[in-house]
Amino acid sequence: MTPFPTLFLSLFTLLSTSSPGLVLSQQAGCDPPQRPRPFPRVRPRPPLYPPGLNLLPTQPPNNPGPLANRARILFITQELKRNITYDPFNYTGTWVGNNYCLFKGYYCDTVPDLNITGLASIDFNGARFGGRFLNFYRYSRNLPDIALFHANSNNFSGVINRNINQLRYLYELDLSNNRFLGAFPFYVLGATNLTFVDLRFNRYAGGVPTQLFNIDTDVLFINNNGFANTIPTNFGNTPASYLTLANNNFSGTIPTSIGRAWNTLKEVVFLNNRLTGCLPYEIGFLGQATVFDVGGNLLTGPIPQSFGCLRNLQYLNLAHNQLYGLIPESLCRLPNAYNFTLSYNFFTQVGVQCRRLIRAGTLNVRRNCILGLPDQKSTAECGRFFSRARTCPRENTFSIVTCNISATASLVDARKLEEIAAPPPPRTYAVLEKDHH
Ligand SMILES: *[C@@H]1O[C@H](CO)[C@@H](O)[C@H](O)[C@H]1NC(C)=O
Ligand SMILES: *[C@@H]1O[C@H](CO)[C@@H](O)[C@H](O)[C@H]1NC(C)=O
Ligand SMILES: *[C@@H]1O[C@H](CO)[C@@H](O)[C@H](O)[C@H]1NC(C)=O
Ligand SMILES: *[C@@H]1O[C@H](CO)[C@@H](O)[C@H](O)[C@H]1NC(C)=O
Ligand SMILES: *[C@@H]1O[C@H](CO)[C@@H](O)[C@H](O)[C@H]1NC(C)=O
Ligand SMILES: *[C@@H]1O[C@H](CO)[C@@H](O)[C@H](O)[C@H]1NC(C)=O
Ligand SMILES: *[C@@H]1O[C@H](CO)[C@@H](O)[C@H](O)[C@H]1NC(C)=O
Ligand SMILES: *[C@@H]1O[C@H](CO)[C@@H](O)[C@H](O)[C@H]1NC(C)=O
Repeated sequence: MTPFPTLFLSLFTLLSTSSPGLVLSQQAGCDPPQRPRPFPRVRPRPPLYPPGLNLLPTQPPNNPGPLANRARILFITQELKRNITYDPFNYTGTWVGNNYCLFKGYYCDTVPDLNITGLASIDFNGARFGGRFLNFYRYSRNLPDIALFHANSNNFSGVINRNINQLRYLYELDLSNNRFLGAFPFYVLGATNLTFVDLRFNRYAGGVPTQLFNIDTDVLFINNNGFANTIPTNFGNTPASYLTLANNNFSGTIPTSIGRAWNTLKEVVFLNNRLTGCLPYEIGFLGQATVFDVGGNLLTGPIPQSFGCLRNLQYLNLAHNQLYGLIPESLCRLPNAYNFTLSYNFFTQVGVQCRRLIRAGTLNVRRNCILGLPDQKSTAECGRFFSRARTCPRENTFSIVTCNISATASLVDARKLEEIAAPPPPRTYAVLEKDHH
C-alpha cells in the first residue's frame, strides 16, 4: 500500500477533470438553457509535495529505519488495545514491540514532510473490534501522519469534538457501520483534504450542515443513518461523483441547484427518504450521471422532458412515489438504459419506444395506471388519486429540454436491447450493504 503517491495521483485527476467555462453550443430556434455554473472549487488543491522532490524510498516494514511519532503511536495503540475486548481476527495479538509497521492493520510509508517512515494508513475494515468505548477521536488524533483511516464494521464511537485538520494528510475516512450517534460530526469537515467520506450505517441524526456540500470531496456516503430535515439548497455545489443519502429521513424537495453538478455527479441515491415536491428539470443537466435513484419517497408530478438528456443514465429508480403523467419517449431512447424502474406510481401513458423497453425487460412500469398493460393499480385506486387536482410549481419548466435531444438520443431497437451487456454494478448500490465486500 502506498497511500501518499495515490493521493498525489487522485489530486491530479481531480484538478484535471474540473475544466470550468464549458458552455453548451447554442441551437438555432430553440436554444436549450445554459447549464448552471458549477460551484467553484473551494480550494484549488496544491500537490502535496513539489514534483521531483527526492524522498527516501519506502522501507520494508521489517526494517523501516527511524519511525515518525513512534512513542505517541505506540502509546495510543496500547490504550486502544486495552479497550478492545473482542478481536475475532486477532489484530491486537500482533500489536507488540516497537515497530508499528508490523502491526496488523497498520501500513507504513514515507511521510512527505518528514522524509522518514511513518504510519500512513489504518485498515481495520471488517476487524469487528468490540469494546465499550473505542474512542475514534482520541485514537486518530494521535496518528498525526495518517492519510487513510478505514474502519468499516467495528465499534468505534464518541464525539469528534474538535477539528481533525491537524491530520494534514488525511484524505480517506471510512467510519461506516460503527456506533457513532448524535449530530452530524461537523468537525470532520475541518479536514479539508478529504476526498472520501463514508459515515453510512451509524446512528447520526438531525440535519446535515450546508458545509458538507462545499467540501472538496469525491465520495460522500451518509446512507442508513437518521439524518432528517431538508437537503441544504447548496446541494449542487458538491463536486462529489458518488453520493448516497439513502435510508435516512430527509424531507422537503430535491434542491434545484443539483444541475450545478453536471460536470461531476455520476451516481446519486436518495432512495427511501421522505422527499416531497416535484422533480426539478435541472436534473436533466446531469450528463455524467449513470445512476439516479429517488425510489421510496413522496415525490409527485410528471417526469420532466429534460430526463431525455441523461445520456449516460443506466439505472433510474423512481419507484414507490406519486409520480404521474406520461413517460417521456425521449427517456426511453436513452442509449445506456439498463434498469429503469418506474413501478408503484401513477403514470398513465407509455409510447412505442417505452413499450420496446418494457418488452426487453429494461423498463419496469408495474403497479401504475397505464390502460392495457398487465399488473397495474386498480381503477378505483387510480381514480381516487386523480380525483384531486395536482400541480407542480414551475409548471412551465417541465417541457424544458436541457440539451440537443436529437444529438443525445439514438434509437435503440428491441433486438439490440436484449444484447446490451450488463454495465459494471454501481458503486453506490454496493454501499447500501453494511459491510465492505
Ligand atoms: C530525503 O532523505 C534522503 C536520504 O537521507 C535524501 O537523500 C533526500 O534528499 C531527502 N529528501 C528531502 C526532500 O529532504
Ligand atoms: C494472536 O496472534 C499472536 C501473534 O501472532 C499469537 O501469538 C497468539 O497466539 C494469537 N492468539 C490467538 C487467540 O489466536
Ligand atoms: C459497542 O459500543 C457500545 C457503545 O457505543 C456499547 O454499548 C456496546 O456494548 C459495544 N459492543 C460491543 C460488542 O463491545
Ligand atoms: C479507552 O477507554 C477509556 C475509558 O472509557 C477512554 O477514556 C479512552 O478515551 C479510550 N481510548 C481509546 C483510544 O479508545
Ligand atoms: C491540505 O493539504 C495542504 C497541502 O499539503 C496543506 O497545506 C493543508 O494544510 C492541508 N489542509 C489541512 C486542513 O490540513
Ligand atoms: C422521520 O421524521 C418524522 C417527522 O418528520 C418522524 O415522525 C419519524 O419518526 C422519523 N423517522 C425516523 C426513522 O427517524
Ligand atoms: C432494477 O432496479 C430496481 C430498483 O433499484 C431493483 O429493485 C431491481 O432489482 C433491479 N433489477 C435488476 C435486474 O438489476
Ligand atoms: C442536434 O444534433 C443533431 C445531430 O448531431 C444535428 O444534426 C442537429 O443539427 C442538431 N440540432 C441543432 C438545432 O443544433
